[in-house]
Amino acid sequence: MKIAVFGTGSVGQTLAIRLSGLSHSVTIGTRNVENALAREGKDAYGTPTVAEFVKNNPSITLKTYADAANGTDLIVLATKGDGAEAALAAAGNIDGKIVLDITNPLDFSKGFPPTLFLTNDTSLGEVLQAAFPNTHIVKSLNTMFNGLMVNPRSLGEDSTVFVGGNDAAAKARVIGILKEFGWKDSEILDLGDITTARGTEGMLPIWLRIFGATKNGFFNFKVATGK
Ligand SMILES: NC(=O)c1ccc[n+]([C@@H]2O[C@H](COP(=O)([O-])OP(=O)(O)OC[C@H]3O[C@@H](n4cnc5c(N)ncnc54)[C@H](OP(=O)(O)O)[C@@H]3O)[C@@H](O)[C@H]2O)c1
Repeated sequence: MKIAVFGTGSVGQTLAIRLSGLSHSVTIGTRNVENALAREGKDAYGTPTVAEFVKNNPSITLKTYADAANGTDLIVLATKGDGAEAALAAAGNIDGKIVLDITNPLDFSKGFPPTLFLTNDTSLGEVLQAAFPNTHIVKSLNTMFNGLMVNPRSLGEDSTVFVGGNDAAAKARVIGILKEFGWKDSEILDLGDITTARGTEGMLPIWLRIFGATKNGFFNFKVATGK
């Protein structure tokens, strides 16, 4: 499958490498290729620079958002939350495409931990769906550290990945990708339409507090039910 991953940060790089390793044809999207390649220094997670990433992953092509999306029917959206709408807008006509939306509406302007710039009665997933009504936004994977998204078995026990979106066929495609990553049927919880992103994006404040208390991002939520 031809897949465009939007975002050159740790999430975009991790998803692109894993999808490429699964034999998908992957492009990685950025605002400006020259600027991305020229950027020096690592982020807080020690993510390789874009230049290092491109050098180490010759099968993954770095393109502008529009060029990356061209000819694909699946976009993995892994940009900063406040750049998500602009990234999709820059992609040109994305009608009919599926967008696996991993973004969170995090506002770091007052330091750490960040707050949510959309919450309660709205969500970034919904805002994107409203802005691109002919595109199928599917919110998933945003509730965990990126290493776990693409390798759920590395946790050593079952946990939960949430899925939310308005279009059943688009969700089925995303669930297919999740299974390729190693998620079991029993771990995948379809919460319903895109308004469920209020819930999954709303998990970030507790995710951040758990991270703050344990200093360990390698954990996941698990919905435990009585048998
Ligand atoms: N880190 C995790 O494990 C984790 C887990 C769950 C969810 N998330 C979510 O995943 C997303 C990506 O996180 P990250 O840490 O990998 O990267 P990030 O630093 O949040 O985002 C980097 C990407 O955002 C793009 N971007 C920033 N502002 C933009 C704008 N105004 N218009 C268009 N694009 C813009 C950048 O484009 P350029 O390449 O052009 O600079 C870059 O590709 C975030 O929404 C985050 O909340 C992260």
